[in-house]
Amino acid sequence: MHHSRHEKMYGDIKLYTGTASPELTAKVAEYLGVSVCGRDVVSFPNDNLFVKLHSSVRGQDCYVIQTTSAPVHRNLMELLIMIQTLRLDSAARITAVIPYLCYARSDKKDQPRVPITARLVADMIEVAGADRYITLDLHAGQIQGFFTIPGDVLTAFHILLDYLNSIKHRMHSPVVVTADLGFAKKGRNFAAGINAPMAFIEKRRVANDAKAEALTIIGDVRDRDCVLVDDEIDTGGTMVQAVNLLKDFGARNIFMVFVHPVFSANAVQRLAALPVTEYITTDSIALSPERRAPFGDRLKILSVSPLLGEVILRANQGRSVGEMFNE
Ligand code: R5P
Repeated sequence: MHHSRHEKMYGDIKLYTGTASPELTAKVAEYLGVSVCGRDVVSFPNDNLFVKLHSSVRGQDCYVIQTTSAPVHRNLMELLIMIQTLRLDSAARITAVIPYLCYARSDKKDQPRVPITARLVADMIEVAGADRYITLDLHAGQIQGFFTIPGDVLTAFHILLDYLNSIKHRMHSPVVVTADLGFAKKGRNFAAGINAPMAFIEKRRVANDAKAEALTIIGDVRDRDCVLVDDEIDTGGTMVQAVNLLKDFGARNIFMVFVHPVFSANAVQRLAALPVTEYITTDSIALSPERRAPFGDRLKILSVSPLLGEVILRANQGRSVGEMFNE
């Protein structure tokens, strides 16, 4: 058989989705100009899952897009089973595309007798048969080291920043604020990106009582519009506290910016009730119409699909991803 010099190394792109990411996958497929491959995912009466591919992937370059938000264990298990199914069907290469990686906050033993679950998750993804992974704004960069397979750890930073710059004319003396000192360094990049100063909210224990905290603001927020940034919103507790504090300190409009809308417990109701001008996030985790509704038109969801699509395209063609970001 004749092999042309331009023959693809890993075959054609075969795009699959778990049940957690159908809309995002459809958008990535549109970007790539391919259709999403068919598969069945069945949950048996005993709660065991079953996957069947509709067509062969032998020799192909396969991508499974599955975010691992709630229901976390179902979504994770689906991802693992799909990877194994592709492996057993002799895919040439399998990439797990996980826009939001679960358990990323369990990344070290910070007290005795506890697990490091992010490591366990990384191991399971590898054991299932993934050759590579793609993810977005990992809570802790060190988690890259929990994988031995190569990965592309992307960031929605440029997408969020472009949007912020497009609405900056609506802001009055903007200041970028981080509610969590752990995000201070990344917050600094946002501030530089929109050419604004920074402020930090500092939390401090004031007594032995676990809940006794004093909050202070380092920096100037009075009569300024605040761009409150974080990587994820889980229960919303951090942001509720931050917004109330900013208002106490005389902040004007508040723009809340975060990559992953985890929105556990009653986060949607708590957040939507806040005096916030706009909530700016991504589709790394799908939000149903019911969950979007309480925010009305204050919720702006920016799609990460062009980013994921372009990285998948480049991975398939064996081209640099870094050069997308001038790196
Ligand atoms: C914390 O380390 C993260 O950056 C977020 O601040 C945290 O996940 C938010 O959690 P919650 O919304 O439950 O306060």
